[in-house]
Amino acid sequence: KGILGDVWNDEMSSSMLGNRLKKVVQNYQAMNKYGVKVSGPGGSSNRPKLSGRELLCQLKEKVAVTTLTSDHEPFSALAWAPLLLPPQQLTSDLGPYKSCAVVSSAGSLRNSGLGKEIDTHDAVLRFNSAPTSGFEKDVGSKTTIRLINSQVMASDDHRFLSSSLYSSGVLVAWDPAPFSSNLSQWYNHTDYPIFNQYQRYRRLHPQQPFYILHPRFEWQLWQRIQDNMAEPIQKNPPSSGLLGTILMMSMCEMVHVYEFLPSRRKTPLCHYYQRFYDAACTFGAYHPLLYEKNLVKRMNQGSDRDIYNHGRVTLPGFSAMNC
Ligand code: C5P
Repeated sequence: KGILGDVWNDEMSSSMLGNRLKKVVQNYQAMNKYGVKVSGPGGSSNRPKLSGRELLCQLKEKVAVTTLTSDHEPFSALAWAPLLLPPQQLTSDLGPYKSCAVVSSAGSLRNSGLGKEIDTHDAVLRFNSAPTSGFEKDVGSKTTIRLINSQVMASDDHRFLSSSLYSSGVLVAWDPAPFSSNLSQWYNHTDYPIFNQYQRYRRLHPQQPFYILHPRFEWQLWQRIQDNMAEPIQKNPPSSGLLGTILMMSMCEMVHVYEFLPSRRKTPLCHYYQRFYDAACTFGAYHPLLYEKNLVKRMNQGSDRDIYNHGRVTLPGFSAMNC
């Protein structure tokens, strides 16, 4: 048995990490780049521990999956926004779907043979620069939505504006915003130049649907994680993996998440598509990823065997829940 036992333990804490990663996580727990104001029961070990069902209902009630539209301030007053931003919400333009797959980019997808199963879903979400070409057997070939962060959009290595990697499906972008900022303050202080890159991409590829997540979504979700953990978590937004999972729960009756909770194939290989090894990819450093995984483990409606054999978690969509 390794550090996790057979499958992810929902009481995972930073004290169970190796010394190097423990220090990195502790540094991020102490740092507060985005000015997060801590409130509520979070970080206390005597808080009530909610059931999976109660957690699911909390998410449904307290997290609004919103995208920017051209009528949001300050965009309504900017010359480019009415031309380039969508007039409607992502969730009103797309879906609802019956079954959805969220494909984490974890190294443990390698040699999984999950491709066929993933492609049977009505919609498939992928992340950042995760390719399908050459990896179809393990990750499938269908891409309905690609969730990308502003760092990928801005970095020269990823050739975001020109690479064909980003050309299929609907794009959804996000950027870490200051915790209590309004949209105007964020617009003037984005972490990476998300709006410049968005405008350039939209002008080069005007036919491809492209949405931007409302930053309120990130921090409402962060609050749900912190309120349900016994220790202080990193004061940084959740990883793309959890943002994408909740996004799909708002559009699908049922969501399968692949290799977010590592299967028996668990590996320090960071991504299935790169020869780069770092445990931080699985346990988090900047992102509160290990706490995100605790939450997902508690909400999972599938079996531990599904996680162990297929790296598969089953979550109900918001529309299918009775709260
Ligand atoms: O690295 P990237 O953010 O592009 O990967 C997409 C998501 O997949 C991550 O945000 C994380 O939630 C998940 N992931 C993981 N374990 C890995 C690599 C990625 O859980 N080894």
